[in-house]
This record gives sequence, C-alpha cells and structure tokens, in this order.
Amino acid sequence: MIESTLDIQTLRKDFPILQREVNGQALVYLDNAATSQTPRQVIKTITDYYERYNANIHRGAHTLAQEATEAYEEARKRIQSHFNARHSHEIIFTSGTTHSINLVTHGFQSILKAGDEVLVSAMEHHSNIVPAQILCEKTGATLKVIPMNHNGELILEDYKKSLNANTKLVFFNHVSNALGTVNPVKKMVFLAHEAGAAVVVDGAQAAPHMSIDVQELDADFYTASAHKMCGPTGIGMLYGKESWLQKLPPYQGGGEMISEVTFEKTTYADLPHKFEAGTPNICGGIAFGAAITYLEDIGMDLIAGYENELLEYANEKLMDVPGMHIYGPSANKTSVISFNIEGIHPYDLGTLLDKMGIAVRTGHHCAQPIMDFYEIPGTVRVSFSFYNTLEEVDMLASGVSRAVKMLT
Ligand code: ALA
Repeated sequence: MIESTLDIQTLRKDFPILQREVNGQALVYLDNAATSQTPRQVIKTITDYYERYNANIHRGAHTLAQEATEAYEEARKRIQSHFNARHSHEIIFTSGTTHSINLVTHGFQSILKAGDEVLVSAMEHHSNIVPAQILCEKTGATLKVIPMNHNGELILEDYKKSLNANTKLVFFNHVSNALGTVNPVKKMVFLAHEAGAAVVVDGAQAAPHMSIDVQELDADFYTASAHKMCGPTGIGMLYGKESWLQKLPPYQGGGEMISEVTFEKTTYADLPHKFEAGTPNICGGIAFGAAITYLEDIGMDLIAGYENELLEYANEKLMDVPGMHIYGPSANKTSVISFNIEGIHPYDLGTLLDKMGIAVRTGHHCAQPIMDFYEIPGTVRVSFSFYNTLEEVDMLASGVSRAVKMLT
C-alpha cells in the first residue's frame, strides 16, 4: 500500500498545524488547493534566516549580505533543477502565480497589436482570464476561449480550430484549481507552436502534485506558487525561455534591475535581475528552495501515486452520499473533488463541516466561468495533499452525510 511506503503518520509529525483542534475537533485540513501547510523544516529555514543572516542581497560586501545572497541564489538553482529549466536565469522570483502571469501579459503589451488573437481556456482561474483581458484591452487583440465539456476537459478539436496565424499567445492551466483536471500540456503546447503562438502554462495546481519538466513540456512560460508546495505565501516563480525573457521589457523599474542609470537613459540588468526590481522576498525565496527539497526528499512520484489513491477512495465514499453531484469527473485528475448536494447551498455545507473541524473551500474558486458553464453558484471543493489520510476521507464522508441530514 502506497500509504505505508510513504509513512504518512511520520510525515504528518512534520506539520505542527495538523496537531491542532478546530471547534473542539481534530483538524481535518482539506483545502490544500487554496494553500498547503508548512513543515517544520521550512519553518526552521525561515527562523534561521531571521535569527542568523537577515540582510539585503546582491548589495553588501559584509558577511551577512553574502550569506543571504548565496542562499537566495542557491534556492533559485534548486528551483531550476526541480523544474528542469535549462538555465537558472530562466527562473524569476515573483510573489506568486498571479504576479508571474501579470509580468508576462504586461510584457506582451509591447508585442501584440490589433488583429492578434489571445486564447484562454474555459477552465482558467481569474488570475489568467483578467490579465489576458487587460492585455487585449490595451493592445486591441481579440480574446478567444478554448471551450470545455461536461467532464471538465478542454475540447481539443475546438482548440485546434481556434489556432491560426493570428494567434500570438495561449493561456491554460496545467491543472484546474476548481475541478482538478490535468490538461494535456505537451500536446497543447505543440499545437500552439505549430501555429506560431507562445504558451503560458499556469502550473500553480500541478507543481504540488507531480514532477514537472519545463523542457519536456516545451512551455514558453510556466508558473508556480510556493505556498501551494509547502512553502510560505508571497513567493513564487516564473519560468520563461531565455529567448522570451530577453524579448520582454521589464515589468517594474527600480533598484537591482538596472545596469546603468542616468537621467538620459537607463540600461537594464541581465536576466533574471531585469525582472526583480527592489528588495525581493529574500526569506521567502530561500524557504521556497527548502520546500522543494522537502517535497523532493519524499519523492514527487510517490506523492502523485498516493494522492491518486486518496482521490479514488474519496470519490467512492462521497458517491455514496444521497444527492451527490461531482463536477468534472475527468479520467485524468489531481486530488481535487468539486461537488454539490442537491438542494443544499455549498456555503451551508462548508460552514457545518467547519464546525466538525473539516476545512474545505466553498464558492466559485476564482473560476466564475466554470460555475456559469455548470449553471451553479459554486461548489464545495475538497483538495488533498500527501499528508491527508484515508481516515480523514472517512471523516469527510461521514461529516458530509451528517451535515446533509441536518440541512434537509
Ligand atoms: N487559487 C487558490 C484556490 O484555488 C486560492 O483556492
């Protein structure tokens, strides 16, 4: 059994928060797609930084500044190796996926023009849809949507038909945050490239659950957020192919992103610094590296296998609840289940589950077009991580059944 291979009970001891109670009940944390919990190894990296070598980077000659700079750049290399980027300067530290995507769309404002087309998938998070809309408003490009079916899968035939010589940029997520669908990234990137378009892949919901090889996927841009990968909030990364990052203008101006400044003209620093204006989230970057080491020590393939087992078990248990409707039952999913119970508002169910110590997300999950597609106001979403257990799935299923009895 994969659970015993991974020794979940020992892993759980790494997460102090999992020991706490909520509303007098043991916490069952099933909102990992919103944010994951933080192991003590990463917490220790954060306290070590502030206790031992807190300093600004790339600036000072003193020892603390050198230690902080080395740790930050070492973290960048760890991220590069984890995502298999060709160069460490293809990894830009950002505050998270939203920042990463806005950096790209801002850059494309000086590349796109009226008549160009931008494609965005029907299952995007608002963090893709809104920057793509702003990009189109600024440039006069047209926004087109890659449609999805009721299984929660993108319709590839329609995608192929939408691609043409005017398509300049395509956005889709690797994994849908609201449904858990894993999109066929490699194939979709290949098709976009055949049409001459660049591709931005939102990897926020994929990176915590599987190993990612950006060279293999051939994405032009790929994003991740540390806080969904056992790291802290406020830090993430943008991977960009060197050639694209050279082409894009800086996102923000400020210290550290320059080569020379005069009042007549400023020249910019080389990659990655061109995109990292101002004092960055130094501690966050170092802790992101520590979180990646933590995940790699467990093994991304073991994590994927175990989480799939949790998903299958939870699907089976939840399907037994009367009135259950699971959205997007695609064959290729990560450990996310979005559901509603006939006649019950998702918020009411979420509130009752919280009283039982069970944390889930309810609402539109920042993906309103998906809710419109299914003609619902929102869903209850459970999202598992490798530190969840089969017993917790049992507690969820019996909690949902109890809540349904109370609400009907
Ligand atoms: N994007 C995060 C989620 O899906 C916040 O919950």
